[in-house]
Amino acid sequence: MIIFPDCRPVSRPMGVAVARIQVLAESVFRKIAAGEVVERPLSVVKELVENAIDAGAGEIAVAMLSGGKEMIRVEDNGCGFGAAEIEIAFQSHSTSKLVELEDLDRLLTLGFRGEALPSILEVADIDLDTADNNEGRGWHCRFRGGRMLEKKQVSCRRGSAVTVQQLFANFPVRRKFMKSDQGEMRPVAAFLENAALARPTIAFSLQHNGRTVFSYPAAANLSERIYQVFGKEFLDDLRPVDFTSGHFSLNGFISAAQTGVSGKGRQFFMVNGRPVKEKTLLAAFNNTYQPYLEKTRSPVGVLHFNVPPSQIDVNIHPMKLEIRFLDSQRVYQFLQQAIDATLGRPPRPQAVAFNEFSQPATVNGPVSGIDTTAAEAP
Ligand SMILES: Nc1ncnc2c1ncn2[C@@H]1O[C@H](COP(=O)(O)OP(=O)(O)OP(=O)(O)O)[C@@H](O)[C@H]1O
Ligand SMILES: [Mg+2]
Repeated sequence: MIIFPDCRPVSRPMGVAVARIQVLAESVFRKIAAGEVVERPLSVVKELVENAIDAGAGEIAVAMLSGGKEMIRVEDNGCGFGAAEIEIAFQSHSTSKLVELEDLDRLLTLGFRGEALPSILEVADIDLDTADNNEGRGWHCRFRGGRMLEKKQVSCRRGSAVTVQQLFANFPVRRKFMKSDQGEMRPVAAFLENAALARPTIAFSLQHNGRTVFSYPAAANLSERIYQVFGKEFLDDLRPVDFTSGHFSLNGFISAAQTGVSGKGRQFFMVNGRPVKEKTLLAAFNNTYQPYLEKTRSPVGVLHFNVPPSQIDVNIHPMKLEIRFLDSQRVYQFLQQAIDATLGRPPRPQAVAFNEFSQPATVNGPVSGIDTTAAEAP
């Protein structure tokens, strides 16, 4: 698992503790997958929570009113914004996480486009309370109508609280397409549950309309976090995985043989700390499990992959929901070996062994013999 440093992580320049927020050169931002990033309350929560994680937070508290339609607040105890950086951070294409395109090959942060804050500001009002020091010297900033209206010195603890209100107030069509309060809240809870499994050592909490939906204290390790989220019985059916091959490593928990659950809703894959939905992983996971489980059961997995950043492409989709492995064939085989090594290899017909395939498994379509459709998330 990647352990982020205590302050804003940098991929470059190396050796500098805190990277400055800068506007990307046009030649760089034109090559970054950008576009619509704010569609609903979930998108706002996702972007703000990812920022909090990148800021090195040890505690992230999310509060919402009316499914996030009235208010979303994400509070963290991360590195905070420097006074001079706040205005820049809300400009398009400004980021502290990337300077040139090659930095994507070294990327250890969730963000890199410099798009999230300006995109949220386009469709909502924002209040920011932040301090980048432990002396309580902080700032309160009020953004209305896309502009900063007020910036005043206040006393606050190190970290940031971003409060988003009036989401889509000036976009009645988008507002109309929002679901009921519960309908907007549920995917936020699911996203945070996944984030909590991706970062066990960070405390996460969610409040909705003043009621605590969940509160997970910082866990010592992944098994403690799984216990917090799903309970003891769930954890009892899992086996620890710890597997390394070359520069790829994997750790986490998977279903013991002859257990499993109904449906594929409990399969969580994290690549370099980023929760992903990736077809090769889903296919390898579910296909490999076939000899270990009854036909009606699906495997559970909470799996953290660590791969060299140069082996994945995260610059595919503006919302960064997808990644692509450079060598998906190797990834398929790697996961298969890890599962077999953990559960004890079952008799596997040669035809299912991955190295028999002449075509690599791609994320764009099934490869003969690999049932990628069977592996789609529910
Ligand atoms: N909670 C936070 N604490 C400290 N700094 C933050 C926080 N949120 C944002 N920042 C700073 O503001 C910058 C802009 O944030 P923004 O989310 O717009 O872009 P990004 O995270 O760099 O890229 P992406 O658009 O992919 O999320 C970040 O690069 C970071 O330096
Ligand atoms: Mg961001």
